[in-house]
Amino acid sequence: MKNQIKILDKEFILFIEEEKIQNRVTQLAEQINNDYKDKVPTFLIVLKGALLFAADLLKRIKVRCKVELISAKSYGNEMESSGTVKLKHLESNFKNKDIIIIEDVIDTGLTMKTLLDDINKYEPNSIEVAAILTKPNAIKTDVNIKYVGFEIDNLFVVGYGLDYAEFGRELPDIYVLKV
Ligand code: IMP
Ligand code: MG
Repeated sequence: MKNQIKILDKEFILFIEEEKIQNRVTQLAEQINNDYKDKVPTFLIVLKGALLFAADLLKRIKVRCKVELISAKSYGNEMESSGTVKLKHLESNFKNKDIIIIEDVIDTGLTMKTLLDDINKYEPNSIEVAAILTKPNAIKTDVNIKYVGFEIDNLFVVGYGLDYAEFGRELPDIYVLKV
């Protein structure tokens, strides 16, 4: 991996290495396998940011499960939340299911709050959230994230699914904006 990368006009510095991410994902999967050993969870992947985390997590899941997709968009090409969240469903049958939402990052929590309110209307049996990153200092809502990869400061990051103006999602490591 490179220690420093450039995406469009911005420089980013290596922040969380692939090996560290993978080890943490293994731990989260073990926790989920244990918590859901008598259940059949439905993993709801939030596109596009959660793609890489979801793939790595799902490869380590040992319980019978289903996978569904939803897209949520709150960011334009900027580095701040646009304030409105657009959801697009591919599947809406969540009734009585044990849902585990897989998300990339919880920043203000607005996206997750909107998503939880929406999914709750379908009367699932339970809902939990797995996020590879949370930013506790940026949160503005009261969402509970059960499975957290890493808590980070209020920083802008790319890689491992996260983008800057749609670039950088393919990077296996996480990089932070150079200030
Ligand atoms: P929230 O609604 O403010 O919690 O923002 C959540 C969404 O904003 C995430 O799902 C990401 O798509 C995007 N986002 C938040 N922080 C970052 C970041 O540091 N880098 C890239 N995207 C981010
Ligand atoms: Mg996202």
